[in-house]
Amino acid sequence: MGYKMRSIIELLEEELSAAFEKTGYDVKYAKVTISNRPDLCQYQCNGALSAAKEYHKAPIQIANDIVDILKESESFKEITAQMPGFINMTLSDEFLADVINKMAKSENYGCEKTENPEMIIIDYGGANVAKPLHIGHLRTAIIGESIKRTARFLGHKVIGDAHLGDWGLPIGLIITELKKRNPELVYFDENYDGEYPEEAPFDVSELEEIYPYASKYSKEHEDYKEEAQQAIAELQAGRKGYKALWQHIINVSVEDLKRVYTKLGTEFDLWKKESDAQPYIPDMVKAMKEEGYAHIDDGALVVDVKEESDTKEIPPCMILKSNGATLYNTTDLATIVERRKLFNPTKIIYVVDKRQELYFEQVFRCARKTKIIGDKTGLIFIGFGTMNGKDGKPFKTRDGGVLRLEQLFEDVYNKVLEKIEDRDMEDAMKDEVALKISLAAIKYGDLSNQASKDYIFDMERFTSFEGNTGPYILYTIVRIKSLFAKLHNEGIIVDEAGPIMPSVSKSGTDVMLSLLKWPDAVNDAYRESAPHKICQFIYELSDAFNKFYHENKIVTNEDENLRASYIRLCRMIGDILEKAIYLLGMEAPDRM
Ligand code: ARG
Repeated sequence: MGYKMRSIIELLEEELSAAFEKTGYDVKYAKVTISNRPDLCQYQCNGALSAAKEYHKAPIQIANDIVDILKESESFKEITAQMPGFINMTLSDEFLADVINKMAKSENYGCEKTENPEMIIIDYGGANVAKPLHIGHLRTAIIGESIKRTARFLGHKVIGDAHLGDWGLPIGLIITELKKRNPELVYFDENYDGEYPEEAPFDVSELEEIYPYASKYSKEHEDYKEEAQQAIAELQAGRKGYKALWQHIINVSVEDLKRVYTKLGTEFDLWKKESDAQPYIPDMVKAMKEEGYAHIDDGALVVDVKEESDTKEIPPCMILKSNGATLYNTTDLATIVERRKLFNPTKIIYVVDKRQELYFEQVFRCARKTKIIGDKTGLIFIGFGTMNGKDGKPFKTRDGGVLRLEQLFEDVYNKVLEKIEDRDMEDAMKDEVALKISLAAIKYGDLSNQASKDYIFDMERFTSFEGNTGPYILYTIVRIKSLFAKLHNEGIIVDEAGPIMPSVSKSGTDVMLSLLKWPDAVNDAYRESAPHKICQFIYELSDAFNKFYHENKIVTNEDENLRASYIRLCRMIGDILEKAIYLLGMEAPDRM
């Protein structure tokens, strides 16, 4: 491994700490932040303001003491004390270049792998078998994938689990409807004890037609609904013919789900299903009863999870219904038991619609109270907001239905294809490029918002090549790629391992300052499960690069040393941008 990189903030804090210590002030005040007045300075320390109380001195006096010491430091072009007691810092060009060169030589450009890898399970996707993926599944697939890639990039062991819904009423509805349509099928013959056919009695499009039909029908026909409930109860109790049908439903759907998730660039390590947790339920329930955590309330088995400090009502967690049936809760709790047994994770992260927040609060409390999970294991709920249409309401098709994910994808693809129609490329290439841009448009449009917030899906804006959009970011990367293609074509060979020289322009300095934010952007995004922090970084760096690119001659620079230095800088920017978009689940084409 290369140089053990410290972030610029750490480097500056070290330097300030020495000065605080030398002047007799506590080093805890030597905190550095990026300046919120970039017109005045690059970094600042506000510690003198807080230290003033302890030392009964005017803050400016303390700031002056520190500045007096650091004035001579080669790290700064300028360091000043400003009323009422700020310490403003601007790095010297040499020091800045020095840090950039160290970054260039360290693992992942200073974004090093952790020495304490965690074992993390990410529960995302959450699709339900027999139902096509629709836009309600988009955000978890995109956000979860990014959180997974980011954690893994930092050296954590991560398992992404699709946690498919395959154990509830929808399956009962499908069985009921199939029986109504094809009562002669062998699956419904209780006396049959031969082998069941290998081929499913339906294909995916039939399956997708059956479910919404049955669901609607059950809302109008109580007896039909009861039959479906009976069917799911019998399936759960192990009725053979129903199990065989259920297995067909899973096989047919999973194949289709895999296809669509692959298109989206979402890759699960595990394709576990709710039903996989069922074997863990009996022992779990038994222990909850024996240890006195669960009690009967109105016939149902429940665990109280309210706490004294609650400001809102947290209802008990229901484990078994009065008829003994298990619930969504029961499955999620048993899944925790299963995950603990199979993987012993240090953390489980759930990326689910934020409307399920209260539900997860109950489940987490119940898991802790009943000790099915140890205190050291983190249970983290990342609730995301809704993707809305331009009217501010949940995104719908023109006739008010839910939009299939594939349809959304296709609409965006067509829009993008229109935009690159006049490019001089072969059709296959155009297709590939349009696919990459479409994905970037959708993903970046989503991920650039804080996950918990709702956002508006704006086709025009998301697919625009300008502004804070996915296509703009790809465009920037493509620009860098073309620059290298040009060098290659012109036979210009540059020793890329050589040093990057101190900046000689404002735009050069700005792009370097943006680069310095890379390790913190990734680490913050990981720590807070917040991919939008990576987007912020990417956008800022792209903007800084494009300015730099416009204002400086790169390939055509007459000064050969400067040209080589710029090329190295461009390589670093391009590499970091590509790593960064990988963390978002995006990929850049070579041209666009
Ligand atoms: N299948 C569920 C739904 O459609 C989402 C699953 C979320 N994950 C979980 N562990 N409960 O609402």
